[in-house]
Amino acid sequence: MPSTRSLYPFASSSPSLDPTTEKAGTRRTSFSKPSKFTSFFSTSPKSRSALSEADAIKAALAGQGAQHPYNSPSAISTSSLSLPSISLSTATGTNMKTEDTTLFQPPTPAEAARIARAHAQFGPLGSKNHLYSSRFVGNDFPDPIEDEPPMYFLITTYISYLILIIFGHVRDFFGKRFRAEKYKYLRANDGYAPLNSDFDNFYTRRLQKRISDCFARPTTGVPGRFITLLDRKSNDHNMTFHFTGTTTETLNLSSYNYLGFAQSEGPCADAVEITTRKNGISVCSPRADAGTTDLHIEVEDLIAKFVGKPAATVFSMGFVTNATVFSALAGKGSLIISDELNHSSIRYGTRLSGAMIKMFKHNNMKDLEKVLREAISQGQPRTHRPWKKIILAIEGLYSMEGTMCNLPAVLQLKKKYKFHLFIDEAHSIGALGPNGKGVCDYFGVDPAEVDILMGTLTKSFGANGGYIAADKDIIDKLRVTNAGTLFAESPSPPVLMQISAALRCISGDLAPGQGAERLQRLAFNSRYLRLGLKRLGYIVFGHDDSPIVPIMLYNPAKIPAFSHEMSARKISVVVVGYPATPLVESRARFCLSAAHTKEDLDRVLSACDSIGDILQLKLSSGIAGGAEPIPDGLTNEEEHRIQKGEKTEFKPPRWRLEDVLKRGVDDIKMPLR
Ligand SMILES: Cc1ncc(COP(=O)(O)O)c(C=O)c1O
Repeated sequence: MPSTRSLYPFASSSPSLDPTTEKAGTRRTSFSKPSKFTSFFSTSPKSRSALSEADAIKAALAGQGAQHPYNSPSAISTSSLSLPSISLSTATGTNMKTEDTTLFQPPTPAEAARIARAHAQFGPLGSKNHLYSSRFVGNDFPDPIEDEPPMYFLITTYISYLILIIFGHVRDFFGKRFRAEKYKYLRANDGYAPLNSDFDNFYTRRLQKRISDCFARPTTGVPGRFITLLDRKSNDHNMTFHFTGTTTETLNLSSYNYLGFAQSEGPCADAVEITTRKNGISVCSPRADAGTTDLHIEVEDLIAKFVGKPAATVFSMGFVTNATVFSALAGKGSLIISDELNHSSIRYGTRLSGAMIKMFKHNNMKDLEKVLREAISQGQPRTHRPWKKIILAIEGLYSMEGTMCNLPAVLQLKKKYKFHLFIDEAHSIGALGPNGKGVCDYFGVDPAEVDILMGTLTKSFGANGGYIAADKDIIDKLRVTNAGTLFAESPSPPVLMQISAALRCISGDLAPGQGAERLQRLAFNSRYLRLGLKRLGYIVFGHDDSPIVPIMLYNPAKIPAFSHEMSARKISVVVVGYPATPLVESRARFCLSAAHTKEDLDRVLSACDSIGDILQLKLSSGIAGGAEPIPDGLTNEEEHRIQKGEKTEFKPPRWRLEDVLKRGVDDIKMPLR
């Protein structure tokens, strides 16, 4: 298939993307042929010429080159410095061996291609400085400060929607009358009411369809550090698409590949291959019938041990996990209190349970307490009997906002009001905490304090499915009463092996050192990009350690514009608008991964710098961070006040890209300001 693949412009850390560069470049240093595992984390020699492609980045990196452990002179082994000497007077050359005697062979083209593929899935670590540990430090967990754009941008956003809606209705009005055949499905037909006629349908046809080329792009291969898009075109305004037959390799900030396990080679892929050959691809039965194997039990034990709960059970789908467990846990006479921004699977599952549902404002502990007090004091509707049980359902990390739950505050309320706590860790398991064990790990809380820990295996583990971890009696009950276990298909052996291998990798039993590095790289990347975007002047939502970094676009026209501008720079991002967000809060989301290198993030920052100017996206006022360094010559007290964010005058941050790149690595190790 012809391809429009572009070489990674900042190829300094992955020169092997281009085998020709590899051949001409310097020889390997003192490393012998890398093992399968180490090749993912070793750094190949840098191609200095590639650095010249982005002047700003070059300038910033120049100052940091010395930090690169494999670039520094100290990385050259002493044995390679003491070369053997020969006497020119006696040397004849006739007895010289003709075969190559050097230990440091450049890789063969096949090996170079393999390394290139591996690096396209998981980038090599550039420096030990690009590591950080994800944990909460401090006493009170602060709510993130939400910045707002100037009024002009909000008004023009509303006007844009107004224009879109008016035009849509005018077209519908005339379409229904003059092109009745085409609009048949919107009109009453032969006595039948139209099935599709509400606002969602209007929104999909008149607003979302216009920009649907930005969504659901078909891809091929694993969604690793890079993702390969199957190019497509539409000749009928996105009604239909056809493939052009080419592919485009883009930097991938659009997948929940937090720990970079989306790899087609490496320890996990090898283990999965062996299992597939041995056990096939399906157990052909629900769990409750003949669908439970040794592997299921082993994975459930591993998950329980990993999250710190006595028992766990796995499901073949994350959505199904939430959709079916609430019915087994609660019913009539029970109350479920749910965060207003909970995932649709939680909403679906809780509604299905038949329990009464009350919502509280997202992450708002005051509102939660108000709802709790009211619910407990009033009891069940009409009878005012006490609730049979109260369950609070929240998420560890919210994927649209990049916010984490305030677990310490929730636990205080739990002690006071005695409710059961259910946490969906779909986005936090593997992605938060020094050991990747989710929000409990991040806040240093004993998992025993949380009644039910739910998670999906789709994100951090590069697999599929969901789990519930809790006390053994709860898990036993779920196994016999839960529709997902009784009727849904059982997780397949290759998927289970991927989960098992990923978990063993994170805990260090498999490929020791890899798991810790993945966790620390993700933590570094998350803070580095967030701080950089704030300093450039973007309004960024969420908490500092979140690996999801949403930036605000507001205007609906900026949704496709941002996506297209990023695509033109060969970067894939997720853009989101209504109904997934409030109408005026359209955004783009960067999903970070341990597989990204600092150079990848510099490339994103460089793209955001120019796109931010073109699309007028640098709108922050400074209240939410990105501030200039604390000036010299302040008293300790003044400095302390500024550090605590008590300074009242805010200057909109509009840093130069060079400064953002130069200071980021050191600054993310301090509290972000
Ligand atoms: C919070 C949350 N829970 C559950 C799910 C469902 O998981 P899955 O996609 O694995 O079915 C998701 C999916 O994104 C999610 O974000």
